[in-house]
Amino acid sequence: MTSGPGPPATLLDWFAVRQRDLPWRRTRDPWRVLVAELMLQQTQVARVVPRYHGFLDRWPTATSCADDPPAAVVEAWRGLGYNRRALNLHRAATIVRDHHDGVLPADLAGLLALPGVGPYTARAVLAFAHEADGVGVVDTNVARVLARRAGRRLSPSEVQAEADRAVPEGRSWAWNQAMIDLGATVCRAGRPVCGDCPVSAGCGWFEAGAGAAESDPAVGSAGVPGRQSRFEGSDRQGRGRLVDALRSGVVGADRLPSVMGWPDDPERARRVAATVVRDGLAVVDGTGALALPR
Ligand code: ADE
Repeated sequence: MTSGPGPPATLLDWFAVRQRDLPWRRTRDPWRVLVAELMLQQTQVARVVPRYHGFLDRWPTATSCADDPPAAVVEAWRGLGYNRRALNLHRAATIVRDHHDGVLPADLAGLLALPGVGPYTARAVLAFAHEADGVGVVDTNVARVLARRAGRRLSPSEVQAEADRAVPEGRSWAWNQAMIDLGATVCRAGRPVCGDCPVSAGCGWFEAGAGAAESDPAVGSAGVPGRQSRFEGSDRQGRGRLVDALRSGVVGADRLPSVMGWPDDPERARRVAATVVRDGLAVVDGTGALALPR
């Protein structure tokens, strides 16, 4: 298409040259795409890359995953955080094995019916495994890019409609991966590098003099998270510590406060441990000891 010097003319040209070579971009297998996208939710690319192949070597299909106990998947999720994703992945695999002959649904409604699969993940499977037309994949990176291009805050339905509308026919895979890369490497949350942007022309924020953080249309726009609440000292930290301990074995009720990092607050430990059980990440025996679900 374009040749010669100067910046690439379009996002797809830019992506052809600049795309990151990531392991999940070398497959169109729906299960492998699903695993990648679930791992990538809330976990950085650099932390997912070294874990991706190991997981799929062990569970190359949904059925193989469903055939192992949930505890095995939670154990394998060590270090990735947000352990409920592991449990949901196992639940989804079980539904796929039992109700879909081991093959992931290839339609939006069928995918959305799987535990832990929301609009982002369902659309990612459609675009990245099936190259479905008209499907815009909206993660936080993409939502940020779209709001900045629009030059104003967008509502949730506007973000999705903009994302869907922008996908060039027949290029769903590349377009959506390109949007993710653009958001991750150029149109970054802090200090965007508009000078490197292949699509700064036509960008509302850029044309209004981008760079002033106060004027960033992405702030407060749908799909763009605000500041993360503190992890240190949070209930989530205690939950994470408990699941980490459970990966090594049963935790007796008396050990909960120390394992969760609250030796002086057994009441809090009990209360937060109960949420881990309620979510299905742990089971309790008659003595009040906790274990991963087998
Ligand atoms: N984050 C979420 N999905 C991604 C993908 N497919 N490639 C890179 N980063 C991602």
